Amino acid sequence: MTHRIAVIPGDGIGNEVMPEGLRVLEAVAKRFDIDLSFEHFDFACCDYYAKHGKMMPDDWFEQLKDFDAIFYGAVGWPDTVPDHISLWGSLLQFRRQFDQYINLRPCKLLPGIKSPLADRKPGDIDFYVVRENTEGEYSSVGGKMFEGTEREVVIQETVMTRHGTDRVLKFAFELAQSRPRKKLTSATKSNGIAITMPWWDERVVAMSGNYPEVSVDKFHIDILTANFVMHPDWFDVVVASNLFGDILSDLGPACTGTIGVAPSANINPEGTFPSLFEPVHGSAPDIAGKGIANPIGQIWSGAMMLEHLGHKEAADAIIDAFEAVLTEANPAVLTPDIRGQGNTQTLGQAIAERVAR
Ligand code: NAI
Ligand code: MG
Repeated sequence: MTHRIAVIPGDGIGNEVMPEGLRVLEAVAKRFDIDLSFEHFDFACCDYYAKHGKMMPDDWFEQLKDFDAIFYGAVGWPDTVPDHISLWGSLLQFRRQFDQYINLRPCKLLPGIKSPLADRKPGDIDFYVVRENTEGEYSSVGGKMFEGTEREVVIQETVMTRHGTDRVLKFAFELAQSRPRKKLTSATKSNGIAITMPWWDERVVAMSGNYPEVSVDKFHIDILTANFVMHPDWFDVVVASNLFGDILSDLGPACTGTIGVAPSANINPEGTFPSLFEPVHGSAPDIAGKGIANPIGQIWSGAMMLEHLGHKEAADAIIDAFEAVLTEANPAVLTPDIRGQGNTQTLGQAIAERVAR
């Protein structure tokens, strides 16, 4: 069986980390005899916008909908296209139209990478953030009135549905159930956001009835962020609304030392549409073009893609490979963000070679 994968590098360092992501996927596919076919697309990036005045062709949905997965780099080039246009015109369309309602982001302290949280070791930080990915605070309900006048008013409403909330909670409980610790933490703010968040808490309690083995706790988002830093070992699976999940899933990987290694999966669990796999980081204009971006976020995203496609063994081989390369800690191989003197390619090549063994 061939897995058809749409490849979209996007902007900035997306173009630099994607080749390394593909290099490692090709190596693991060869070793495990997995048939991957890659098709490259030049849209969903700001270069395409410069040429066409839009981020994607009108028939993007038709072009992509039958792929088994989308392997994505990063989008955004704020010097030329405002972020609300580039992101809303591409990634957010994929997430919504392909109903990728789960955003799954591992936070795991890797060997050889120094955490800013002194004395934490691999194993001390190993949890998932499950972010609701289609509604919540990121809604298109709202508007502006009296623009440019003294009366100017802007409103953007949070939209939470029972359908949308219960399905993300179900995914998170199932994930917690499958892990040894069987622990779920819910991000709330029911003290301040006094309509939607108490309701979110009620849905968590209702769902927990189906998972008696899973222990459940909750924190308000403010102290939860503090606890990510102070007690990252407390967490196993953390479930959150769209905005809270966005914040937590940058903070979680930051606690593991660098955002450059963090992967993410935008999952349509039913498989009605392709799921999308991308590093957590953006296009990093500050380092783009220098060839020094850490490719592990892209490579690990490729591993999540393979696991989603049913190749858990190959996915684990990729993770083992980059953990081994990080354990070796050869400074000539590693990128500068993890205290190396190498570059995107030296690190990608080392991981691909290791995976091929
Ligand atoms: P960013 O993630 O691009 O960069 C933040 C910082 O992390 C920078 O200092 C960068 O050099 C560093 N960094 C990021 N990835 C790295 C890697 N692989 N190796 C080493 N260092 C790395 O976030 P920023 O600067 O806020 O956004 C830049 C653009 O990317 C914007 O247009 C933004 O909208 C877009 N963006 C896109 C995302 C996506 O496609 N999912 C996610 C986040 C931002
Ligand atoms: Mg983010």
